[in-house]
Amino acid sequence: MCGIIGYVGPGPATPRILSGLQRLDYRGYDSAGVVVLDGDRIRVEKMPGKLDHLLDHLKKMPAMNGCVGLGHTRWATHGGPTQRNAHPHLSHRATVAVVHNGIIENHEELRRRLRKRGYRFASETDTEVIAHLVEDHYRGDPLEAVRRAINQLDGSFAIGALFRDHPDVLIGARLNSPLLVGYGEGANYLASDAPAVLPFTRKVAYLEDRELAEIRPGGIRVIDAGGRPRDPKVIDITWDFASAAKEGYPHFMLKEVYEQPRALADTIRGRTNRQHLHFPELEIPARRLRAAKRVTIVACGTAAHAGMTAKYAFEELARIPTEVVLASEFRYGDPVIGRDTLAIAVTQSGETMDTLCAIRAAKEHGALALAVCNVVGSSIPRACDGTVYTHAGPEIGVASTKAYTTQIAVLELLAIRLGMIRGTLTREAARPLLRAMERVPAAVEKALECDGGVAKLARKYAGSRNFMYIGRRYNFPNAYEGALKLKELSYIHAEGYGAGEMKHGPLALVDDTFPTVAVCTKGRAYDKILSNMKEIEARGGILIAVANPRDAKVRALARHVVEVPQTIEMVSPMVTVVPLQLLAYHIAVTLGRDVDKPRNLAKAVTVE
Ligand code: G6P
Repeated sequence: MCGIIGYVGPGPATPRILSGLQRLDYRGYDSAGVVVLDGDRIRVEKMPGKLDHLLDHLKKMPAMNGCVGLGHTRWATHGGPTQRNAHPHLSHRATVAVVHNGIIENHEELRRRLRKRGYRFASETDTEVIAHLVEDHYRGDPLEAVRRAINQLDGSFAIGALFRDHPDVLIGARLNSPLLVGYGEGANYLASDAPAVLPFTRKVAYLEDRELAEIRPGGIRVIDAGGRPRDPKVIDITWDFASAAKEGYPHFMLKEVYEQPRALADTIRGRTNRQHLHFPELEIPARRLRAAKRVTIVACGTAAHAGMTAKYAFEELARIPTEVVLASEFRYGDPVIGRDTLAIAVTQSGETMDTLCAIRAAKEHGALALAVCNVVGSSIPRACDGTVYTHAGPEIGVASTKAYTTQIAVLELLAIRLGMIRGTLTREAARPLLRAMERVPAAVEKALECDGGVAKLARKYAGSRNFMYIGRRYNFPNAYEGALKLKELSYIHAEGYGAGEMKHGPLALVDDTFPTVAVCTKGRAYDKILSNMKEIEARGGILIAVANPRDAKVRALARHVVEVPQTIEMVSPMVTVVPLQLLAYHIAVTLGRDVDKPRNLAKAVTVE
């Protein structure tokens, strides 16, 4: 997820672009850059790190003049957060400058083809491919050049492009990433998000997938990918800045819960291309992965729950013994780790001190270290031999949501890959698993429809002093995760248990004031969890079930049933966690809690 702003008009572009970038930093802060057409030359200035670095740098440089320009704030996906990889990117002959938000899935193939045609690459990004491709198609008409280029792109993109030979034109195009055009007075705008343009105009039109816009000071023309004219719907933005940054959601957390289908699609697609599985960025050769005799996962908080889910997949599919250790415990134990261990650090931020120390310790013992991380170039990937990134985009709410589901996706894809490398999973057996994985974003989208019903339940039970969460197998870690979400957001005491453990103690807590949330979707232990639920029901406990549609057995037992689509058991935790996230969210809202910043907690814990 990156931020884009573009301006074309009679006035200087740079101040407007910088002011737009200041309001986009929640979309990424790995680097920032600006490009203007200064006389007959495209001039680019960009710096790694937060926008302040760029602002300081610009103070030392001659003024950037020009009435057409683009700005970008980056959340790195392909290529580390360096100056070279910062946007804007220039085409080979410096005739086109491009900024981009999204992931170009076929960038390697396009890069090979462009190299053969003599194009030289200056960065490791997928974006640079777009700049060269547009230049390659350019025959005097900027809109046509971008149109031809985007018809060759797979994946997701919101693009802004400016051309050396056209001082009064900006081109925008999108697929699966947001992009809007803003209508000003004698000047017009391009942005990935409304907050960027709010000080200049409130009249905007959101582009649809595969639409392109030609933006001039006097007007905006929109066409589709076939070149046919389109009539965009212009709307008036009535939100203030804070709600615009949240795209109208009252909290970042809710926005991030709703972003999960998109985040999962970005994470899964491209790696499961046409039923094959590949991790181009992994950088660890298959023979080294094959040599591993055991897997040790280290992580904290929600990331540890994703690791616990992955244990089932690694053991089921790759038949490799897997343990999950809380990173804070790992370092102070005597872990049995050696050269035959694949150690995996799971982390959203890549900066959690306990996880960093744990993975370093594992490496010192000779383990092969792999990071599953959301922040490119952060400390933990740098400490590891290889990394697979979750493409969740910046997560701002302290309570982790989209990072969690994308961590599960990456870990389960890795389990499939490991199974294939180790010969425990045939290509035929892997195929339905990959298909199930590809369907997860749609299943999560469907699961979000439970929101209204869950909000009602939240209001009904927000006064409860305790909650229990139960699940089994792949959904056992979700019991922990549901309880953690509720604790951290609402400050209500909650516990997660493997459902089979209830009879060994926690059942004593159950009475008619005590809600238990049971994840009881179809899977290998489905009948078993039904018996566990019967034990609770028999003692008058309040059962809230997360189940598959039309499940008569569950309906007969539970007081409330929240339905989510049926999937194979392995991928189900990414779907069943949605109502758990929403329940915690709505209870916290009902109780008036600070949802995005719960008391006493921090997003990235960089101390031990
Ligand atoms: C903090 C956050 C949690 C997160 C944990 C691990 O406690 O509040 O949401 O799960 O750290 O963070 P990491 O960035 O390593 O995933």
